[in-house]
Amino acid sequence: MSKKTIAIACDHGGFELKELLKAELLKKGFEPIDLGTNSTDSVDYPEYGQLMGATIAAGEAAFGVLICGSGIGISIAANRNPAVRAAVCHSGLTAKLARQHNNANVLALGARLIGVETALDCLEQFLTTDFEGGGRHQRRVDQLGH
Ligand code: RB5
Repeated sequence: MSKKTIAIACDHGGFELKELLKAELLKKGFEPIDLGTNSTDSVDYPEYGQLMGATIAAGEAAFGVLICGSGIGISIAANRNPAVRAAVCHSGLTAKLARQHNNANVLALGARLIGVETALDCLEQFLTTDFEGGGRHQRRVDQLGH
């Protein structure tokens, strides 16, 4: 798996933002694995959250991006997989902290709650911020399991 491989998935509420973020990932030199959905036709978010979980657990991508209307349902579904630490973020700062303190490996966004600029800011912070590791942050992430 290349470090540049990023899985991306959404439900119908997140489809348009998924397409935009996929294009942004390509522009930044990443290789997105698109897990769907691929239209605004109504689907059920658990399927796509679970697909993300399976993809991360299989080592096909180290990181992922999930989008639904609120970011909540699809992140809950993904977080059922112990390989996933998905964080719903609504600002660049929350995305940065999710990486620094929680070593989040999946960024979850609510397309109906945040604008495009905020989503792009979240993506940029998520992609460019490292886990601080060591000491208390590592201990707490270890306590999450997996
Ligand atoms: C779909 O209408 C909506 O419920 C879904 O995208 C998400 O917001 C659920 O958490």
